[in-house]
Amino acid sequence: DRQHDGRGPRADMEALNAALMQLADSLMPTPEERATHQAAFEAVSSLLQARWPGARVHLFGSVANGLSVRHNNDIDVCLELEGIELDDTAAKGEVAVAVGELMEAAGMADVLPLPKARVPVVKFVVPKTGTKVDVTVNNMLACANTKLLADYCAIDGRLAPLVALVKHWAKSRAVNDAYRGTLSSYCYVLMCIHLLQTRPVPVLPVLQQLPPTFRRTVGQWTCEFCDDVASLRGFGATNRENLAELLWAFFEYWAWRHNYTHDVVSIRLGGCLHKDDKDWTRRIGNERHLVCIEDPFELSHDLGRTVDRQTRAVLHKEFTRAATLLRDRMDPMDELFQHY
Ligand code: CTP
Ligand code: MG
Repeated sequence: DRQHDGRGPRADMEALNAALMQLADSLMPTPEERATHQAAFEAVSSLLQARWPGARVHLFGSVANGLSVRHNNDIDVCLELEGIELDDTAAKGEVAVAVGELMEAAGMADVLPLPKARVPVVKFVVPKTGTKVDVTVNNMLACANTKLLADYCAIDGRLAPLVALVKHWAKSRAVNDAYRGTLSSYCYVLMCIHLLQTRPVPVLPVLQQLPPTFRRTVGQWTCEFCDDVASLRGFGATNRENLAELLWAFFEYWAWRHNYTHDVVSIRLGGCLHKDDKDWTRRIGNERHLVCIEDPFELSHDLGRTVDRQTRAVLHKEFTRAATLLRDRMDPMDELFQHY
């Protein structure tokens, strides 16, 4: 049964692996891009600190967690102010508007405050470099999950290239847009971590099940995990699977193994929960819970909640297409990443 052979579906896995490694490599941001992102962060940070003395400013998202891909010219910045509660979106919205005015005055381009969004944000562009910046206010859960992802990244060198390929695939196939009912990059990262935690020989540990060395409370949520990456490096060394085998395993899982009716992916627990356990069994408002991915800290947050029946069918069709290409095609690379 080819589908269940742990070493992958084909004889030439080594050749495919070499091609995928090369592609993943070419997707890594260049030192110039990293420097541009860092410079943009520092410029924004000093503007914010001049306006709100004593405020803390954090870089989060892919540029901060080591999972950024090339030509992604976006950075995520969090302004941390005292005295604004986690769920006070009205207060956060007002700050977003004030940040917008500040950035406008500082000569930033395309300033767009979205104070009424689920997560209030102001978007703008650094004119010299074209770097797109999102500033959110007291988005401390995102800062905590950025650190969790960065720590997973540091434990095994296979996570970053796997994420790069999956993000590249998802962007190419137009299934990387939470606003349009598919999945965010952050969600794909959680799906990759889940895969690596659940290999027959695990590649990644379950950091939230180890004695915690990092603790932070954000509103009602407790963010706790083991962040002693130095002692966990090498955890996955007995798993010898290469990038091609892992990418195949990813698509095979989402095409043919994941139980969409019952399962909730949980990197917190290192496996799957049942939808009953979360009470994610029916549609409430716009939250449909047709594909369920639990946020590691904000446990009521299902990253797949925006998927509807039509987009779930699209996602499933794309996972199946990718798995089938990897199984059956002599040279699957071009078709796999072909623009939709
Ligand atoms: N985030 C979150 N909850 C979401 C979406 C995003 O907490 N539903 C936070 C995460 O900290 C994530 C960051 O916002 O790392 C940025 O999200 P996103 O752009 O989806 O992920 P990136 O890894 O930055 O992806 P890309 O490289 O495509 O920008
Ligand atoms: Mg991002």
